[in-house]
Amino acid sequence: MSLLEVENLRTHFISRDIDNQIRVAKALNDVSFRLEAGKVLGFVGETGAGKSLTAQSICGLLRPPARIVGGSVLFDGQDLIEMPQEELNALRGDQIAMVVQNPRTSLDPLTRIGDQLVRIHQAHTGGPVTASRGRALDMMQAVGIPDPANRSNAWPHELSGGMAQRVLIAMALMNNPKLLIADEPTTGLDVTVQAQILDLMKGLTERFGMAMIIITHDLGIVAHYSDEIAVMFAGTIVESGPVREVFAKPDHPYTRSLIASTPEKLQIGGGAKLGGQPPDLYNLPSGCPLRTRCTFAEDVCATPPTRKQIGGGHYSVCHFSGALPEGGGPQ
Ligand SMILES: Nc1ncnc2c1ncn2[C@@H]1O[C@H](COP(=O)(O)OP(=O)(O)O)[C@@H](O)[C@H]1O
Ligand SMILES: [Mg+2]
Repeated sequence: MSLLEVENLRTHFISRDIDNQIRVAKALNDVSFRLEAGKVLGFVGETGAGKSLTAQSICGLLRPPARIVGGSVLFDGQDLIEMPQEELNALRGDQIAMVVQNPRTSLDPLTRIGDQLVRIHQAHTGGPVTASRGRALDMMQAVGIPDPANRSNAWPHELSGGMAQRVLIAMALMNNPKLLIADEPTTGLDVTVQAQILDLMKGLTERFGMAMIIITHDLGIVAHYSDEIAVMFAGTIVESGPVREVFAKPDHPYTRSLIASTPEKLQIGGGAKLGGQPPDLYNLPSGCPLRTRCTFAEDVCATPPTRKQIGGGHYSVCHFSGALPEGGGPQ
């Protein structure tokens, strides 16, 4: 069994319009993937594809009108969708930790950072406070914060963006999680700091045997730091597999277009940039969600494509999986 097994996860926004008619935005549609212990999985896709919503659905962080309407999430054999909210809250911050964009908004401005680290350890693990203080200093050291004993007295506003992100990662590590979910962890940081933080996170997964999900719109980050890739489009995973395999032989027209629109060093599969607007989640086209933008589209694409295995652990959801010409992509 894998550490995380997500099957046909569906999350919709259900609301009523001014005429009291029910409106449904189908934001996640049959998201399925697995993640093994100790591995790094990169989620990519354009803004609005459903990457953050996937993370929030897994962690029980959805807010109305978002609601899980189908599927299953098994973490370490436990069903997270059926789990009572209190138990799920206890699991989050303990066995599953999240690091989000904008670290400053996730830190309590009125508490010194050392005390925030101690608090999260006490809330989940308990034990003597001195042990939590020791752990806090160890984790600050692990994330490369210089002079932890002194820095633990700092207030959040005294930290640079990069340091604040390191503190968040230290917080995430306090209870030795099995899974770390990092949602755009370095967006907004300058390129050098970005690389330092990502190198650090990758090193920590190896050191602590953690699995990690990195969510990003940057294909280069996935290529560099992940073992596996999941490409999202319109609330579904259109292609997934081992990173090398997917970059060497991208199958889905959307994956090809993503690779084509990134800098030259990543252009392996060929293909043209994808035009057009993301589909309206309130009114998704029948069949393949990409079909209105895909130059390969034919009549059959108005019916839903199934997920096909095209290599070892490599899956694609296209009627023409394995049958499209090399290179070339939607115009
Ligand atoms: N309250 C809402 N009602 C309807 N749709 C929403 C609501 N909130 C977010 N969405 C939609 O959910 C989709 C998924 O968003 P998100 O997971 O944040 O995308 P990503 O992280 O890939 O950029 C987006 O297309 C967004 O428009
Ligand atoms: Mg997001």
